[in-house]
Order: sequence, then structure tokens, then C-alpha cells
Amino acid sequence: MKIFRKNSKFPIGIDISDYNLKLIQINSKGRDSLEIQAISKVTLEKGLINDGDIINKIKVLDALKTLLSKPLKGKVTSREVVACLPETKTYLKLINVEKSPNELSQVIEAEMEKHIPFPIDEIYYDYQIISSDRNSFNVLIGACPKRFVNQYIDILKEAKLSIVGLEIEAIAISRSLIQEEVQKKKKKPQKKNYLVIDMGAKRTSMFVYSQNTPLFTLNLPISGGAVTSKIANFLEIDDKQAEKAKIVCGMDKKKAKGIIRNVLVDTLDEIVDKIEDAIDYFKNHFPDRGEINQIIISGGGSSIKDLENYLQEATSIETIKGDSLINLNNSSPEMQSYFVESYKLKNDFSIADKDSKSLTITQDDRLAFSTAIGLGLRNVFNSKL
Ligand SMILES: Nc1ncnc2c1ncn2[C@@H]1O[C@H](COP(=O)(O)OP(=O)(O)OP(=O)(O)O)[C@@H](O)[C@H]1O
Ligand SMILES: [Mg+2]
Repeated sequence: MKIFRKNSKFPIGIDISDYNLKLIQINSKGRDSLEIQAISKVTLEKGLINDGDIINKIKVLDALKTLLSKPLKGKVTSREVVACLPETKTYLKLINVEKSPNELSQVIEAEMEKHIPFPIDEIYYDYQIISSDRNSFNVLIGACPKRFVNQYIDILKEAKLSIVGLEIEAIAISRSLIQEEVQKKKKKPQKKNYLVIDMGAKRTSMFVYSQNTPLFTLNLPISGGAVTSKIANFLEIDDKQAEKAKIVCGMDKKKAKGIIRNVLVDTLDEIVDKIEDAIDYFKNHFPDRGEINQIIISGGGSSIKDLENYLQEATSIETIKGDSLINLNNSSPEMQSYFVESYKLKNDFSIADKDSKSLTITQDDRLAFSTAIGLGLRNVFNSKL
């Protein structure tokens, strides 16, 4: 029996990265019944977008049109969009601003210049007062150079989309992975501090989320793409095979003579170093907030089997894989199956171990959609920033 469902009126969320365009549209049958109506992904050729800079507008526009017209599942029923700005080009920080008789916006602008490496007239910015005491305000500032914002506005408009919002990625990810973020209007601020790590194809980023707000973001030039290239070099195979080999073999010591494991471990150890830097920064700049209570990993790169255990052991902080469906009603078997992908490697016994001929793996790719889901949820939860 087919159940009739009214089409969603919520704006679509579009996550634009150097290698992928991803789309999610949420539908609701009431505040407590949120589901995914449409999911779409288009992988981009290399070089169309470089570090957030749209280099080949025509091809990216074509890819956007495919993203909208050929979803992997469901149907796209809105032309309104919430998109994210390129992570490496945005700035997000909670700053403390002294109360003064001057206009608050002027005081914030002056303070912002100390934190953002661009002149104020070259950026678009937004801010939100998070809390205040007798002498000062805690203000969350977000900024991005105008040049990039304008590129994203242009291309989305050319795809005949109407822009409802452009967001900083950490805000979108908080909305999909952290329950407190969507419950904050109902409940008192939680005292738990999270370090969220998003491991993507092009870069890894981290942010600390504390008392219902992200505090700061850090960007690291460590990427899933670089790991794939290293594997391709070591095994003398092309990037496509290396990508599948990485996913199929993972941290298994027996597969590919442990080469893939070694490359992954090198990269993870670099990430562990950066986690320590992020924690030091947090402790120095926000000394009253206590310890990081939990690390949440996200992004396609976090799909490595047992990665959470590896990081937990290395950092001694509880580490979990995020669940990007946590703020939706994710229990339907249909929705659970939406994100399952199968990766198959050509029979190559220099990569497989001797005892196992299995070169196919299925994995749940929902963590690669954390950003797109958070963007799709923006108007559902009517967030401010
Ligand atoms: N099982 C796995 N093991 C290791 N890496 C994986 C696995 N599954 C996916 N990946 C990696 O995840 C990356 C893609 O992640 P994701 O889709 O989050 O990136 P992106 O959002 O397109 O890029 P970015 O966020 O860096 O701009 C690829 O490098 C891919 O190889
Ligand atoms: Mg990403």
C-alpha cells in the first residue's frame, strides 16, 4: 500500500564542497515527525571548485542542475535553498565585548577586526549576542569574504534557486549532530562540551560546541583526498582504485600488507596532535567551561571502521561517531537504508588478504551528509544565525 505524503515546503539544504554537491530536503508531519524527503549527491570533476573558489562556473552549474533533477531518493519540491559557505573561507568565534556607551554594532566591528584576517569592508558578517553580564557581552561572530559569498549567491541564483540562507558549516553540523542545539529553546543551557571533527575529502575541520553554541572553528589541511593519493602512490594504482581500496581495507593489518592501515594511522596521528592543540586553545580561551566531555566525529572520512575507538584511546576522551539523523525520526527502515552504499574493488589479491576474497563492503554514508542535513533542518527549527 502506498501512503500518501504531502510534499515538503521546507527549503532544501545544499552542501557545496570541492568534490561533491549534496542535497537534503526534510519533510515534516508535525514538529516531532521529521523525515528526509529527498537526498541527492553529485561528485564533481577535480578542479571545478578549488578551496571553495568556483573555478568552472558552467560545469558547477550543470552539476547543480543534475543535483536538483536527479535525486538518489525521493523528489525535490522546493526552489528555496539554504547553502553553506566554504569552510576554509569562513570565520566563526565567540568573542567577549566590553559594554560601552558606544553603539554596540560599532564596538563589535572594531573587535571583529582583531579576530578576522580581512578588512571589515571586504567581508560580510553576522553576529548574535549569546549572553551578557554586568560588564560585557558574549557575541558569536561569523564572517566570510564578500568575494566568496557573491560567487555562491550568483551560482545559486543562476540555478534558479531562491536563497533563504548561507551558513557557516559548523552551525549546520551542530544542528544535525547535537540534540541540545535543536532543544535549546526548550531547555536550560547544558554544561557539556563537545569537540566536533568533520573529516572531509578536502580538509578536516574541528569546532568546540559548549553551552548551546559553537565557540570557534579550526581548519586543518588534512584530507581524505590526500590519503587516497598517498595510497595510490604506494600501491601504484589509480586514484579511483585507491579510493575503493581505502574504504574496503580500512585499518585491517592483513589487507594490502598493512600499507593502507599505515597511511591511515599516520593521518590519524596528525589529527590527534591537532585535537590536542584545539583542546589547549579551548582551555586557554574559555577557562571557566571545564573539560571537553565528548568528541563527535563526522564527515565521510569518519567512516573508517573503529575510528572512534582509536581516537578515544589516543586522547582519553569519550569519542563517538555522530548520528546525522539524531534530530530526525530516523527509525523507519526506509530512511535507515537511504544512506547505505556499497563499495566494490576489482578482484585484486595484492590488496585482499589471503584468506578472504571479499573485496566488497557496504557502509552507512549518513555522516557524509551531516552538513546537508543541518542545512535542510535550518528552517524546520527556525534558527537565528
Ligand atoms: N570507510 C572510509 N574510510 C576512509 N575514508 C572514507 C571512508 N568512506 C569515505 N571516506 C572518505 O570520505 C571523504 C568524503 O567525505 P565527505 O563527503 O564528507 O567530503 P566532502 O564534504 O565532499 O569534502 P570537504 O568536507 O572536505 O569539503 C573521501 O575522501 C572518502 O575517501
Ligand atoms: Mg564536507
